[in-house]
Amino acid sequence: MNTFGQLLRVTTFGESHGPAIGCVVDGCPPGIPLAPEDFARDLERRATGRTRHTSARREEDAIEILSGVYEGLTTGTPIALLVRNTDARSRDYAAIAGQFRPGHADYAYWQKYGIRDPRGGGRSSARETTMRVAAGVIAKKWLADRHGVRVRGHLAQIGDIMPRSHDWDAVEGNPFFWPDAAQVPELEAYMDALRKSGDSVGARVAVVADGVPPGWGEPVYGKLDAGIAAAMMSINAVKGVEIGDGFASVAQRGSAHRDPMTPAGFLSNHAGGVLGGISSGQQVVCSVAFKPTSSLRLPVAGLDVDGQVVDIVTTGRHDPCVGIRATPICEAMLALELMDQALRHRAQCGDVGEVAPRIPASAGGRDDG
Ligand SMILES: Cc1cc2nc3c(=O)[nH]c(=O)nc-3n(C[C@H](O)[C@H](O)[C@H](O)COP(=O)(O)O)c2cc1C
Repeated sequence: MNTFGQLLRVTTFGESHGPAIGCVVDGCPPGIPLAPEDFARDLERRATGRTRHTSARREEDAIEILSGVYEGLTTGTPIALLVRNTDARSRDYAAIAGQFRPGHADYAYWQKYGIRDPRGGGRSSARETTMRVAAGVIAKKWLADRHGVRVRGHLAQIGDIMPRSHDWDAVEGNPFFWPDAAQVPELEAYMDALRKSGDSVGARVAVVADGVPPGWGEPVYGKLDAGIAAAMMSINAVKGVEIGDGFASVAQRGSAHRDPMTPAGFLSNHAGGVLGGISSGQQVVCSVAFKPTSSLRLPVAGLDVDGQVVDIVTTGRHDPCVGIRATPICEAMLALELMDQALRHRAQCGDVGEVAPRIPASAGGRDDG
């Protein structure tokens, strides 16, 4: 329920306005250098309150490593990580504590548990994703050090705006993780107008992994693409996941979709790096659709816990586009799934070694998700 992965098992805990959130990462191999500073960059990338385009809640998100690390190295024992909540403003939620926000998890939690923590959305808040990003730091590190795998992502759409060009170097230079620097002023104006209107908008995140060797993923029920889809769908507000060409495959011919192989490399990557649920050695390509934020100050018809019809207005601090902060979360989930699959592959097939012929990921061309 609150645990992700099979050999690398991540369990998160905590609520948006509780004293702290945390996770336990179990099954991590020993000997990985790990310090609190390693988490800072990715947690900062996910954090709120850093730009006017995200929620104004300002958490420090300082990681405490409680266990599993000795003299700077992982020991193979459970790694417990903790982040204290320091900027919760529960009074903002008093007005909607007895109401169900349309589009949010309030009604479903109420029906399931018969009780809910309404403060900041409780457990259904994306505050929980802080710990996914923290666990993902460990996975990214292991994947890079052990296999040369690099996981990265960018925002690929806000509303109906799409990048006109693609430059990885631009992505970290703007608050939108946007790969086209020239378009940033347009996005700023769009988001400013959206915020003023009180409405929200959806977004799409592209996330890719380079350097994944062939062989990761388990047929039939442990497929890599199935694992990635489940990992992404577990993120709050995700409504769709595509691997490779995804739904565009519906309109394609087989002669166009299949990726030709040459000794110099694959000639295309419509499959998104997964064949038969197993990595092909190509770039793993995933695209994730985020719905628009449901907590709006624009009134909407809803019900309260007594079944009375009420006009629901949500004030407080909210993201006008949840997808803006989602890039590091998608990266973390892809890294966790890949590391788990890598460990599972090592467990079963570690003795197989490299099998000939091994085809390079690409014979050239665009490799940018
Ligand atoms: C990074 C991120 C930030 C989010 N911020 C908000 C927010 O400020 N307000 C809100 O109502 N929902 C926000 N959400 C979405 C809710 O957490 C989500 O809609 C809710 O838990 C219901 O789950 P569902 O949308 O998956 O059905 C955010 C989601 C993500 C991924």
